[in-house]
Amino acid sequence: MELRALLTCLLLSLYLRAGGAQDTDVVSVLNCCEGDVLFLLDSSGSVSSFDFSHMLSFLSDLTAPFSLGPDQVRMGLLQVGTEPHLEFGFGAYSSQQGLQAALQRTKQLGGDTNTEDALVIAKERVLRQGTPGGARQGLPRVLVWLTDGIEPGDVEGPMAELREDGVAVLVVSTGRGNYQILREVVSPPAEEHLYFVDIEDMNIITEDVRNAIIEIIRAERLQVRDVTTTTAELHWRPVLAELQSPAQLTVSDSTINSVRVSWGPLLPESVENYTIEYSILPSGKVHVVTVGNRQNSTVLTNLQPATQYLVTVSAHYFMGKERAISAKMCTQDVLPPLADLELRTVGSDSVKLQWKGSADGLRGYWVTWEGEPTHSSSQRSTLYLPPHLVSTTLNHVPHNSRVCVSPVYRSARGEGLCCTASFSSANVPWIRRS
Ligand SMILES: *[C@@H]1O[C@H](CO)[C@@H](O)[C@H](O)[C@H]1NC(C)=O
Ligand SMILES: *[C@@H]1O[C@H](CO)[C@@H](O)[C@H](O)[C@H]1NC(C)=O
Repeated sequence: MELRALLTCLLLSLYLRAGGAQDTDVVSVLNCCEGDVLFLLDSSGSVSSFDFSHMLSFLSDLTAPFSLGPDQVRMGLLQVGTEPHLEFGFGAYSSQQGLQAALQRTKQLGGDTNTEDALVIAKERVLRQGTPGGARQGLPRVLVWLTDGIEPGDVEGPMAELREDGVAVLVVSTGRGNYQILREVVSPPAEEHLYFVDIEDMNIITEDVRNAIIEIIRAERLQVRDVTTTTAELHWRPVLAELQSPAQLTVSDSTINSVRVSWGPLLPESVENYTIEYSILPSGKVHVVTVGNRQNSTVLTNLQPATQYLVTVSAHYFMGKERAISAKMCTQDVLPPLADLELRTVGSDSVKLQWKGSADGLRGYWVTWEGEPTHSSSQRSTLYLPPHLVSTTLNHVPHNSRVCVSPVYRSARGEGLCCTASFSSANVPWIRRS
């Protein structure tokens, strides 16, 4: 499937994994746990703006499935530059809408890679437990450092202090230098907490990093409370103490202007109703639909084609509690079919093709031709043409080849047209749309 390479985005996010059928994409559980996760992002001048935008989109994909809130996961972003900059602290966002918009707004600082100063702020302010604006008392804390690996600075000491203080450290490096230092700073085992990846391939590790974060948070569920001189009472903090709703979110039946959102499990004894919020990413108007406690799916309509949305389903419990889960999704592109195709044979083995130019969003044309399958080896040939062309000549085309032209759009291929190239002696000049 050479065409795959040409398709940029239909379903942008990784965890909406396209299976064989593109319209059944399952999003996994993410009412996972309680903990505070701080991202330390290299925002210095050594990072190109291209790389910086890749890092931000990695962060967006990494964080999107988490349920956020004061009794769930909280996230903060600390940027590394000449002066560190706390882009947002743990208390800032308890909804994915807010978090994703904040990530989109994040601007690169430039300047030096002064990671040491940023680590001081991380340790003394952001990750400090029980202080206003700091981390929550008694809950797991994770530091995820995104770096280009260039001149990491004297980070071993400050990182060791953070680890000794109970913070788990993960590193994602887009450069391969300084392996020793980076290996030193992560919480063991390094195989699970240190990631080297080329900037353009960051999406490959999104799921692993996300799982590593969840693992760390879950592993630290055993905690010591009420420590006095003679007793230390152990409290088990169950990860999934109660059946939660919604625990899964599925996006399916995506069309150009609608999509079906389904969730589960339904808990009608505890949940009063569900609200479905959706907005265009990064920061469109939020639409809200409320449905009853026995409904497990709804179709969102009047959406824009080829547009990325963030959907959040929240369960409102009778007891006043609220649980939410989010996913990113894309509507389909409008894919006008090819309007007209004319084929003219030239000489004994060439054909001239001509068609009508196509609409907005066109990325090019995909031309294929193939000899009759009865030939000993029927070879399929392909040619990709830029969008401004409306004709081309093919040479060495086998007799009776089937020649097809399809328009290629941003998200998928539109319906094409085919003609058969007959190099008969009678020489029929034009054969239309067979
Ligand atoms: C929604 O409910 C139907 C039955 O009413 C069930 O077959 C389906 O699996 C449910 N979907 C989810 C996502 O729970
Ligand atoms: C949904 O439930 C919440 C609280 O559980 C309640 O305040 C709200 O009025 C309900 N909304 C609808 C439309 O039923």
